[in-house]
Amino acid sequence: MTTVLRGRKVLVTGGSSGIGAATTLALARRGCEVVVTGRDERALRAVAARTGARPLAADLGSPEGLARLVEEAGPPDVLINNAGLGWSGETETMPGTEVRRLLAVNLAAPVELTRMLLPAMRSRGGGHIVFVSSIATVGVGTEAVYSATKAGLRAFAAALRDELAGKHVAVTTVFPGAVRTPFFRRRGQEYTRSFPRMLPPEEVAERMLRAVERGEQECFLPRWLGLACRANGLLPGTFHRLSRWFGPTA
Ligand SMILES: NC(=O)c1ccc[n+]([C@@H]2O[C@H](COP(=O)([O-])OP(=O)(O)OC[C@H]3O[C@@H](n4cnc5c(N)ncnc54)[C@H](OP(=O)(O)O)[C@@H]3O)[C@@H](O)[C@H]2O)c1
Repeated sequence: MTTVLRGRKVLVTGGSSGIGAATTLALARRGCEVVVTGRDERALRAVAARTGARPLAADLGSPEGLARLVEEAGPPDVLINNAGLGWSGETETMPGTEVRRLLAVNLAAPVELTRMLLPAMRSRGGGHIVFVSSIATVGVGTEAVYSATKAGLRAFAAALRDELAGKHVAVTTVFPGAVRTPFFRRRGQEYTRSFPRMLPPEEVAERMLRAVERGEQECFLPRWLGLACRANGLLPGTFHRLSRWFGPTA
């Protein structure tokens, strides 16, 4: 189902930085009314000043933060579930607090926001829900929990798409490879692979919005990563042996 973005009300999570900030700018250029959220109030105000978006600070890792965001933002026509964080290292060394934080912010929050906002979206005649997953859905060593959250999003989105068929709510899942944002510095492990090359967040934002406008169900960035994902589905053993040659992080 295609979506005309101009004039629509859009809620962008993780809009204080990286892909979310670039998406907020691209939406503002399309004449959308954007509510932008994250925890960093100063960064949110800076994005708001550049884009005219309404900033709403909320911690998506807490039920209270989610409830307050839903109440204060009001129902959007388009929900962009973009907020997320990484963690890199051997799983057995990962602190339990970090495991729970990744599961809460990357997976539980988009599921909860969708559950809470869907009824109003449907009663307003329809809408579009976007999930920012990752190519890590294939399962990346030293990013096991992160990979699981992103694969969980893919499955949730696919199931939701089935449920919502014929109900005027579209679902688009985006799978970026490496994107030049503070994501890697924040997780404490820089991106060290030479391939795939990093994309600018502005390019990811633009491609994501075009996927929404065209009604694409799944969008890999760059596009060839879709082939890699299919190769992993067909020959997982060979795929993982080959991908280990390219280095320890993705
Ligand atoms: N960069 C990449 O290579 C890459 C590749 C594939 C997928 N992705 C995905 O793309 C999405 C955006 O990442 P990015 O690269 O733009 O990283 P980023 O620059 O670090 O941005 C992450 C955003 O998530 C928000 N966030 C984190 N924890 C939060 C919490 N507890 N509550 C509310 N907001 C929270 C941050 O806001 P505050 O700091 O203000 O809380 C920030 O706006 C993520 O889901 C990431 O997994 C990134």
